[in-house]
Amino acid sequence: MKTVGLASDHAGYPLKELVKEWLKELGFDNKDFGTYSTDSCDYPQFGHALATAVESGECPVGIAICGTGNGINMSVNHHAGIRGALCWQPKIAELARQHNDANILVMPGRFIEESTAKECVRVFLTTEFEGGRHQRRIEAIPYK
Ligand code: RB5
Repeated sequence: MKTVGLASDHAGYPLKELVKEWLKELGFDNKDFGTYSTDSCDYPQFGHALATAVESGECPVGIAICGTGNGINMSVNHHAGIRGALCWQPKIAELARQHNDANILVMPGRFIEESTAKECVRVFLTTEFEGGRHQRRIEAIPYK
């Protein structure tokens, strides 16, 4: 069974706990890289832990959440092997997989409805990369 890595800061923690329940329903395991409460903390610590696990293959895919999604998205995207996609609609999550081969779904915990987040998770985890012209484009993302 595919293991989905999870990370959030305090602002993303409540949604991360819901995501765990949805993953169970969808038949996925999870590995939680924190944070583990709503106590104030700094998102880079948890974003980097998740990104390291996805880069190494320990978790083939991840979900990261902070208040806006921006801070933790910036953090995971500092890793060469990561394509984190900030998604707030299911269609964006679908295209993040089809066109960007995103390997971390990032959501804004303070600015997304539960039902929308649930659908983003389902779609992200069940949509394949289309390859073709998109392969060339994602290969050109690392700036040299
Ligand atoms: C925490 O207050 C908030 O700044 C953080 O969750 C995130 O939105 C940062 O980008």
